Amino acid sequence: MNAIRLAGDKSISHRALILASLAEGPCRLRNLPASADVDASRAALEAMGVQFMPARDESLIVISPESWHSESVQLSCGNSGTTARLLTGLLTGVGAPAILDGDESLRSRPMDRVVYPLQSMGGRISYLEKRDRLPIRLDARTSGALRVLRYRGRVASAQVKSAVLLAGLASHTEVEVWEPRLSRDHLELMLEALGAPLVSEPTEDESARVRLSSDVSDYVLPAFDLEIPGDISSASFLIAAGLITGRPVRVEGVGLNPTRTGFLDLLRSSGVEIEQEVTTHRLGEPVGTVELAPGAFTGFEIGAEHMPSVLDEIPLLAVLAVRAGGRTRITGAGELRLKESDRLAALAVNLRNLGVQVEETADGLAIEGTDAPLSGPIRAFGDHRIAMAFSVLDCDPRIEIEVDDPGCARVSYPEFAADLERILSGAVP
Ligand code: S3P
Repeated sequence: MNAIRLAGDKSISHRALILASLAEGPCRLRNLPASADVDASRAALEAMGVQFMPARDESLIVISPESWHSESVQLSCGNSGTTARLLTGLLTGVGAPAILDGDESLRSRPMDRVVYPLQSMGGRISYLEKRDRLPIRLDARTSGALRVLRYRGRVASAQVKSAVLLAGLASHTEVEVWEPRLSRDHLELMLEALGAPLVSEPTEDESARVRLSSDVSDYVLPAFDLEIPGDISSASFLIAAGLITGRPVRVEGVGLNPTRTGFLDLLRSSGVEIEQEVTTHRLGEPVGTVELAPGAFTGFEIGAEHMPSVLDEIPLLAVLAVRAGGRTRITGAGELRLKESDRLAALAVNLRNLGVQVEETADGLAIEGTDAPLSGPIRAFGDHRIAMAFSVLDCDPRIEIEVDDPGCARVSYPEFAADLERILSGAVP
């Protein structure tokens, strides 16, 4: 059976580029995506003195700098929150000066969530225009080590957790992060596979605690090779398109980390036949195949407990809810208001434009499924996941949608339109 393979996972790619920039020898990365977000991390690291050498076999060799820059560099993070937050952690750790900025959307997103814990470690970070917002300035650390940090985060956020862990790793300082629920743990898996002194502390509830122990003081990150697993969040758009149009879909070589596969679990609990199989592990990351046999499905019940593992798939679940049997309820999703757009508002306004019955609350949505023909204009608000989710809904022959800015898919998934076309033309069973 023909199957689709996807470019590397965005979250893993940012982390692989950053870890390779700290490794003691040249690293080789394969299957990096051509997405604008990952390019932003790569360009920023290059401006900081990291060397990138594309090899003939399409892999990328990454060579860490002998010493970090001492003159302040201007870093543009584009639309990428992960670039801005992870690099703030990395730069705090290495103690090098920089100014970080982003596009209009990124400038409207909160930075205190990483700046505050990093300042508590001794990071010298200041806001240049508005409190809690980019642009920010990081001053060089003139003397001394960073302070040990035990941080209790208010929200489950992999960006916050990773920023603190990277600051600890790069400065050889013990750090501990507690989060109310386990967010994506790619950095932890990679660090564990590379022998870092990482301890996942047991907790008595659904919260999660991870620590880089004091042994980090003399830990040296070894060189590594990694083929980045396919992006499960990109795969989810194709699976949803298969579901909407009744076409089977098979995806191979895709990341199946349980902190990312909530979308597949929710589809299953709504009656969808979907199989997943882990066939290998790469630097601790489970990788394998997903196979969809499309059929009817009921509405979704999505609560705070599901949120970390479906965080980026909520726009997709909300558009699938339109063709689900019955009502979908999404709660505990307040964090979605702080993404590339206010995703709850963007979903509500667009679904209403199509004539779907929607209720919007402070932290969620309620959506009535319907089998009526629907049509209307869609505003993406410059948000790649909103644009792609509605493009998937548009695959339904009884829905007619005009997305104002489909091109913003390039932020995470530049091949989206071509892959969707392959699914629709039946080239991929
Ligand atoms: C990401 C973490 C999530 C997610 C984002 C990527 C990451 O954000 O929404 O697309 O790679 O760390 P939060 O950390 O804000 O939850």
